Amino acid sequence: MTPRPATEPVTGLVAELVGGLTDIVGAEHVLVDADVRATYEVDWTRRYRGSCAAVVRPGSTAEMAAVLRRCTELDITAVPQGGNTGLVGGGVPRSGAGAPAVVVSTLRLTSLGPVDVGAAQVTLGAGVTLAAWRDHARAAGLDAPIDFAARDSATIGGAIATNAGGSRVVRFGTMRQQVMGLEAVLADGSVIGSLSGLPKETVGIHLPSLLSGSEGTLAIVTAARLRLVPWYRRTITAMIAVADLDDAVTLLGRLRGTVGSLDAVELVLPEALELVAAHVGSTPPVSATGAGAFVLVDCAAHDDPSDELTAVLGDAAEVLDAAVTTEGPAREHLLIFRDRITEAINAAGVPFKLDVAVPVGRLAELLEVAHRSIDRHGGRLVPFGHLAEGNVHLNVLDPGDPTAIADEVLGAVAAMGGTISAEHGVGIAKTPWLHLVRTPAELATMSAVKHALDPTGTLNPGVLQPAT
Ligand code: FAD
Ligand code: LAC
Ligand code: ZN
Repeated sequence: MTPRPATEPVTGLVAELVGGLTDIVGAEHVLVDADVRATYEVDWTRRYRGSCAAVVRPGSTAEMAAVLRRCTELDITAVPQGGNTGLVGGGVPRSGAGAPAVVVSTLRLTSLGPVDVGAAQVTLGAGVTLAAWRDHARAAGLDAPIDFAARDSATIGGAIATNAGGSRVVRFGTMRQQVMGLEAVLADGSVIGSLSGLPKETVGIHLPSLLSGSEGTLAIVTAARLRLVPWYRRTITAMIAVADLDDAVTLLGRLRGTVGSLDAVELVLPEALELVAAHVGSTPPVSATGAGAFVLVDCAAHDDPSDELTAVLGDAAEVLDAAVTTEGPAREHLLIFRDRITEAINAAGVPFKLDVAVPVGRLAELLEVAHRSIDRHGGRLVPFGHLAEGNVHLNVLDPGDPTAIADEVLGAVAAMGGTISAEHGVGIAKTPWLHLVRTPAELATMSAVKHALDPTGTLNPGVLQPAT
C-alpha cells in the first residue's frame, strides 16, 4: 500500500474496516493517523517496513476474536505484533503487499494471573513483557526461565510465536518448553486452547507445540500458562578469554560436565566486543591479547556457586584470562558487553542478520565460511551468540551483496547439519532459504496446516512461506 498522509480521510473499504474495528475496541484503540501508525510499520532494525490501513489494539480475547472475524469478512490481512523487537520482519506490514493490512497489537493484553507456587506456573496475557514475567514470578519467590536483552519490550506472545531462546536455554530450554497451555484466536474468530496447565495430557495434537514458532501465521496467542523455575539468588558471572572457537567448545564441555549451576554459556567474538566497547565507551574486563573468542558464563544456585566455577576455570588450560564477578556493579559492567551488542550494531547501521546454528564442533568452520563470503561480497562481520547451542548471530554491516552472502553461508550451514534460524524465526527474511532445511514434503505439510487453520490466508501472509 502507498502510505496515506495523516490528513487524508479514510474511504471505501478502509472506512468500513475502521468503522467495524471501532465498534469492537473503541476509537482510541484504532490508530489511523500516519504518524501514530509509523512506529508499528517499521521493525527494530529498520530493514523491514510497510504500510497498514490501521493499527488495532484489542483489550481482551473476545475483542481479538471479533477483530479477526471482521478482518476475515472484509478480506483484510492481519499482522500480529507484540513488542516489535522481532528481527526477521514478521511483525510489520509487508512492503508492496497487494491487500490492505491491519497491525493487530497485543500490547493491551497485560493481565498477570496469580502465581501458582505449587504448580510453579502462572497465566499471563500475551502482551506481558519478559521483564514483567520475571518480576511477577520473583514477587512470589520464583523466576522466569527465559531472558534476553529485549526483555523490557519483547512479549510473551512474540516469544511463543518465534520460539525465542536467549541466554538460559542451556538450563531450561526455549520458549516452547515453557508453555504449559495457551489460548489463541483463529482467523475466523474461533478461540482454541486451554490454560489449565496440565503437565501431562495425551489427547492428540498439542496446541502449544503447534503454535510455538508459528510466527503469527496460524493464530494469535492471547494468553499463556507458563512454567516458572526456582529463583537462584546467588550468581557468579565470568568473562573468559580463549584463543579460538575450538578452545571455547572445549571449555563448554568442561562446564557442562562439572558445573551443576550452569545458567548461561554465551559467545562474544572480538569484532563484537570491540564494537560494543566503543559503543558504551568502556573497556572490557579481560585482556584481549591473543584472544580469538570470549565466553560469558553465568552460574546461579541457592548456595554460592563460586567454588564450582572457579575450580573448573583454574584447571582449564584454554583459559587465557578471566574476569569473575558476583552480584553488584562489577557484574553489571561485565554483562553490558553481552547485553548491548545488538544495540551497538543497530547504532552502527542497518544490519543484515543471519541467526544460524551448527553442531558446536563445527563453529570454527562456520566462522571461516562467513569470513570468506564477506571478504568476497563486502561487509563487516559482527558475530556473537549462544555458545551452548552452537547458535551464532552473524550480523553483517554494510553488506555488499547480502543475497550472495546468505546463499553461501546458509548453504554451508545446512550442509553442516545446522539450521538457517536458531531462535529469531523465518519471518520474511529467511523465506528464500527455507528449502535448505525443509524437504518438499515438509513444506507441503506446513502449507496444509496453514490452510486448515487459516483457509482465507488472513494471518501474516508471506511469513514462513517459501518464497515463490
Ligand atoms: P514481535 O516482534 O512483535 O513479533 C515477532 C513475531 O511474532 C511476528 O511474526 C509476529 O507476527 C508474531 N507475534 C507477536 N505476538 C504474537 C501473538 N500474540 N500471537 C501470534 N503471533 C505473534 N530473540 C531470541 O530468541 N533470543 C534472544 O536472545 C534475543 N535477543 C534480542 C535482543 C534484542 C536487543 C532484540 C531487539 C531482539 C532480540 N531477540 C531475541 C528477538 C526478539 O526479541 C524475539 O524474537 C521476541 O520473542 C519477539 O517478541 P515481540 O513481542 O517483540 O514480538
Ligand atoms: C541476542 C539476540 C540478538 O542474542 O538474539 O542478543
Ligand atoms: Zn540470541
